[in-house]
Amino acid sequence: MKFFEMAQKRESCRNFKPIDVEKEKLIKCIEAARLAPSACNGQPWNFIVAVEPDAVKKTREFVQEIGMNKFTSECRAFIIIYDGSASASATIAGRIKRRDYTQIDTGIAAAHICYAAMDQGLSTCILGWLNEVKIKGYFNIPESKRVHLVIAVGYAEDKPLRNKSRKPMEDILKFV
Ligand SMILES: Cc1cc2nc3c(=O)[nH]c(=O)nc-3n(C[C@H](O)[C@H](O)[C@H](O)COP(=O)(O)O)c2cc1C
Repeated sequence: MKFFEMAQKRESCRNFKPIDVEKEKLIKCIEAARLAPSACNGQPWNFIVAVEPDAVKKTREFVQEIGMNKFTSECRAFIIIYDGSASASATIAGRIKRRDYTQIDTGIAAAHICYAAMDQGLSTCILGWLNEVKIKGYFNIPESKRVHLVIAVGYAEDKPLRNKSRKPMEDILKFV
């Protein structure tokens, strides 16, 4: 599939089949994230891929609080994106410019993961609703690090794609 077709067809999956995801495919997703651009090439990310039954069960719990993200009950793989060590130049640039480049960089990495998954016949849902403290505790992520996103990855039930709900171009674009 060409890029624009993928952008049109990618959608957040909330209907996973309860089947495992091949490790090689998950590794390719992380490889795509590894190749993503980042401020000063700081690559301020780390990834944990939860596929073992206990890790998967716990991750579901951590993204399902107060009834959210129930659809992840069928999902058998999660990618957790958290702070790695940024380069000194990225950290200094962020401080000078007062910008959180890490949030931006990890968001781009998340997009790479979603498209790499799609390219391999997988579906994803980015999850920002998560219990960061519990994720850190369970996965031994140091207190000082932020957990940015969890991405649910798996095979979708065959269902027609939803219509895209997006703002019209004229509301968001200005040529000057
Ligand atoms: C940072 C971020 C956090 C998100 N968190 C959740 C979430 O916790 N649960 C969920 O079902 N979808 C979540 N989504 C998916 C969005 O709801 C979805 O991308 C948006 O509605 C557009 O739909 P589409 O991805 O199907 O095109 C998140 C997306 C992003 C980018």
